[in-house]
Amino acid sequence: MSEKIEFTTERLKKVEEIIGRYPADRKKSALLPILHLAQEQYGWLSSATMDYVAYILDIQPVEVYEVATFYTMFHLDPVGKHVIEYCRTGPCCTMGGEDVYDHLKQKLGIGSNETTKDGLFTLKEVECLAACGWGPCFQIREQFYMHLDNQKIDEIIEDLSK
Ligand code: FES
Repeated sequence: MSEKIEFTTERLKKVEEIIGRYPADRKKSALLPILHLAQEQYGWLSSATMDYVAYILDIQPVEVYEVATFYTMFHLDPVGKHVIEYCRTGPCCTMGGEDVYDHLKQKLGIGSNETTKDGLFTLKEVECLAACGWGPCFQIREQFYMHLDNQKIDEIIEDLSK
């Protein structure tokens, strides 16, 4: 039996507050923050969750899918506790990002878009994180990890594994 998708009472209040920021006939404008709330609650966005968001906003499910599939910060499959979004764009690569990325994959024992067996880490490749001057870098939720090298990777992963 599939899980019933429904925001918690607390999140529903937040949804109402967000929708209230926009004109009544522009509820779709609330889509991005509400998708973030949905991902916060469920960890990722299943079709059922996106359908629920469409229902709440009174829009077609495809309008939710086209947005959720565009942005890499939305996870369309189950993910681990820590989702590492590693920058693979030019400036970071020229600062050693490729070698550091290889080390990170080796350290975790997984490749891109994979999750470690213990469910702790998921690795995603993303485009520029707008921190080009501080590369190589990755992001986990709102936290940025910058000026990465192999030693820092080891320290970060060991720290997050505790
Ligand atoms: S190229 Fe990596 S943050 Fe911009």
